[in-house]
Amino acid sequence: MKVIEINHPLIHAKLTELRDASTPSHRFRKLTEELVSLLAYEATRDLAVTPIAVVTPVAKTNGVKFAEPVPMILPILRAGLGMLEGMLKIMPQAEVGFLGAIRDEATLQISTYAERMPENLKDRHVFVLDPMLATGGTLITASLNLKNKKVKKITAICLLAAPEGIENLNIALAPDLDFTLVIAGIDEKLNEVGYIVPGLGDAGDRLFGKVD
Ligand code: URA
Repeated sequence: MKVIEINHPLIHAKLTELRDASTPSHRFRKLTEELVSLLAYEATRDLAVTPIAVVTPVAKTNGVKFAEPVPMILPILRAGLGMLEGMLKIMPQAEVGFLGAIRDEATLQISTYAERMPENLKDRHVFVLDPMLATGGTLITASLNLKNKKVKKITAICLLAAPEGIENLNIALAPDLDFTLVIAGIDEKLNEVGYIVPGLGDAGDRLFGKVD
């Protein structure tokens, strides 16, 4: 597993505003979208492309297009939905799947409640979107699911991670799985109720409002 923490002043400034408890939902959504587009630039660095010829108004030259099969973006519902637009903005050719995962707040166990993905994922590069890597349970569940579908490569894009979650992922993922984590920041720790500290609170609630 490869971990890429992006150190960039634009990312640090947006993340700071995102963390602020007084940032309202509409601003939180906009910042999330902008942050994901910035992270996506690095996350797509090794995207597979195929050479093609292109005719400019002046001459013929060589260029590239996305290789087939095109990548899939997989937001983890609910909070990952807030990251989809930022990713699609820079990669509109990608297909989109959905995976619904929920954490039992008492046991911190993850269960999936919805799945909608293209039929054939063999040899695909999949970009998993999940803002908070806390215990790592959601990303482990999603990665095992994708590994069974024989994807070629997984790039997870997260906003914040706890060191415990990265460690759990490292232990759980098969060494032969091509997995990269691209992240805006690695925080201090998880607290006793599984929240990232200092973190930004519940990303789903801050994006879309509290569900009782
Ligand atoms: N999920 C969140 O939304 N926030 C956390 O801090 C941990 C998990």
